Amino acid sequence: MTIIAAGGAGAALSSVTGDAVEANGLTTEEQAATVIAGARAFSGQHAPKPLPFDPAKLKGLSEKLVKSHWENNYSGAVKALNVVEQRLASMLTEKDLPPYLYGDVKREELVRTGSVVLHENYFANLGGDGKASGKALDLIKQWFGSYEQWEVEFKKTANALGGGSGWTILSYNLHTGEVHNYWAWDHMHNAPMGYPLLVLDMYEHAYHMDYGAAAAKYVDAFMQNVNWDEVNRRVEEMRVRK
Ligand SMILES: [Fe+2]
Repeated sequence: MTIIAAGGAGAALSSVTGDAVEANGLTTEEQAATVIAGARAFSGQHAPKPLPFDPAKLKGLSEKLVKSHWENNYSGAVKALNVVEQRLASMLTEKDLPPYLYGDVKREELVRTGSVVLHENYFANLGGDGKASGKALDLIKQWFGSYEQWEVEFKKTANALGGGSGWTILSYNLHTGEVHNYWAWDHMHNAPMGYPLLVLDMYEHAYHMDYGAAAAKYVDAFMQNVNWDEVNRRVEEMRVRK
């Protein structure tokens, strides 16, 4: 991958096409497109995935809440990730830029990527009847003894994040080969190699409109809407990957 030839403002830059282009006078996006044309890591072309269910039909979660969550928090993260990727490309052209400033935007890349990935998994595992079944249920029994015992721990983990931020994730760990309910403080702090089977958003924006500070009631409502067909699809996907 050709990235840049050294040079600050006004220096000639090499694109993958070999054309020499002056950085001066170009917009951020034009610089990024020129400097790293064809480098997908900086393309900033992510698009939000539509809700895979009718938000008016969830049990105990209002349409207004779910649409607001999708539009503002999730779609906002997608847009921000695009801006971040393009800004990183632009910053690569700044010869004198201190690495710690580049690091600030790299941190944002991690935050926004985590938010996009986890929100997409969260919305995709909603819209069901909440009745666990199939291989996902078998896996839960294998690692937690019973569905009831698993649910107690999953809810307790989620409620521990009430009033703040974070995620609760039933994961298959691709490194350890174990299944756990992982606690995640924010979009960035996940168990390494955790493959998400069921994702619960515990940021206040996920429930405050409907439940105020009563996070436990939101967790109960979430459980009634889990799409276990999707969880089973992930279990199958995980079996292929491990
Ligand atoms: Fe969220």
